[in-house]
Amino acid sequence: MNQLNHSYNLLVKQLDSLLCGVSNPMTNLSQFSALIFNHLEGVNWAGFYLVVSKNLLQLGPFQGQVACTQIPFGRGVCGAVAKSKKSLVVANVHEYEGHIACDAKSNAELVVPLLVEGQLVGVCDIDSPNLGRFTQADLIGIEALVDCLIKHTDFSLLK
Ligand code: SME
Repeated sequence: MNQLNHSYNLLVKQLDSLLCGVSNPMTNLSQFSALIFNHLEGVNWAGFYLVVSKNLLQLGPFQGQVACTQIPFGRGVCGAVAKSKKSLVVANVHEYEGHIACDAKSNAELVVPLLVEGQLVGVCDIDSPNLGRFTQADLIGIEALVDCLIKHTDFSLLK
C-alpha cells in the first residue's frame, strides 16, 4: 500500500495552499508544525530539528512541550534518522535504545528526514502518547507533507 489516504491527501492540499508563494523556512516550518499538531489525532509534539553544523541537530520551530535543544547525529530517534537519512517509525519509544525523552507523555514517535537534493537539512519529528500510534499510512502521509514543505521552502535562507 503506497497510496496517500484521504485525510492526508486533504492535509497536503491544505499545506500546499498555506505555503503558496512563501519560501521562508521559519515561516513554513512553523505553519507545518501547527497544522500537524492541530489536525492529527493523538499528537503531543510536532516540529523540527535542523542541521546547524557537521553532525549536529538544533531545535527548530515546533508545537508542544519544551524539548531538548541539541541532538548529535546518531543519538536518539532523531539522531538516527539524521545519520541514516531514512525515516523511522517507533511504536514504543521505551523499547528504543538511546531514545531521548523530552515530554514524559510521549510513547510513540515518527521521524522523517528533510532532504534537499540529497542533502540533509533537518528532520521532522512527531510524538504521540499512544503506543503504536503511527502506521504505514502515517509514514506515507507525513513523507508527502514533507515533500510539499520542501517544494515551497528555500532552505538556503537559513544560512
Ligand atoms: N525523542 C526524540 C527527541 C526529540 S523529542 O521527542 C521532541 C529522540 O529520541 O530523538
